[in-house]
Amino acid sequence: MTDTTVTLTNLTKVYGDSKAVDNVSFNVKKGELFGFLGPNGAGKTTTIKMLIGLLEPTSGEANILGVNMWENPLEAKKYISYVPDQPNLYPKLTGREYLEFVASVFKMDEEKFKRNTEELLTLFSLNDRADELIESYSHGMKQKIAICGALVHEPDILFLDEPTVGLDPKSARDLKNILRAKCDAGMTAFMSTHILEIAEQMCDRIGIIADGKMITLGTMDELRALEGESEGSLEDIFLQLTGGEAEKALIHEMSDEDHGEDQ
Ligand SMILES: Nc1ncnc2c1ncn2[C@@H]1O[C@H](COP(=O)(O)OP(=O)(O)O)[C@@H](O)[C@H]1O
Ligand SMILES: [Mg+2]
Repeated sequence: MTDTTVTLTNLTKVYGDSKAVDNVSFNVKKGELFGFLGPNGAGKTTTIKMLIGLLEPTSGEANILGVNMWENPLEAKKYISYVPDQPNLYPKLTGREYLEFVASVFKMDEEKFKRNTEELLTLFSLNDRADELIESYSHGMKQKIAICGALVHEPDILFLDEPTVGLDPKSARDLKNILRAKCDAGMTAFMSTHILEIAEQMCDRIGIIADGKMITLGTMDELRALEGESEGSLEDIFLQLTGGEAEKALIHEMSDEDHGEDQ
């Protein structure tokens, strides 16, 4: 029995002459809140799509709890849940109906569904709007109901692609607390972000990707030790490790998006 939940082995995606994801290998452990950090275009979404069975790797392997996603997708997909960067929800369903739909797909027990739904809607302050149509929701609310849908059936592993974009600071904090609680209870979260502060504040370990290649991976303490900078912020470390223009853009975006609008 291993405590590894997500395993990438030489995972590669080639588009024409360019490698969107270039020979990436690492493991994510059970109960971990893993941050996959990199600037726009680094290869985060492409990697996640290969891990969840939406995009076939050019080479390499994606394993979920020891099951190869591309050899045995039906088995591997039982364990996972996914929140895309642009959730495409059914606009003519209410938030609650959407969650009921998810529960029916996963053949959830009625009592468990009710319990989980109430818990999640409360945690995300969505109770008041749960019976309104999704088309009336703000981007942030759509994001939150998509996250509720991904959590309601209690997945072993939750993949989130840039989940904090469009969330106001309170919702981002709620998300952090919810993910923390779920991971402490044994769920694994694999979350991409281009915002340094989000990775730094939310995640147990952080893997940094740029131009399709992994630059480094570790806990904040390990990343700091790597640079011999006990007081270094992730921003300092990131710039030291990369130092490119794209990475500088990422720093600036961080301050712009930190106060994303919602509701
Ligand atoms: N369908 C595609 N065809 C060609 N190039 C693509 C395609 N999808 C992504 N790319 C390229 O792959 C690289 C990684 O993209 P992506 O994984 O979306 O990055 P990120 O999610 O980190 O912003 C980018 O250079 C992007 O332009
Ligand atoms: Mg992306």
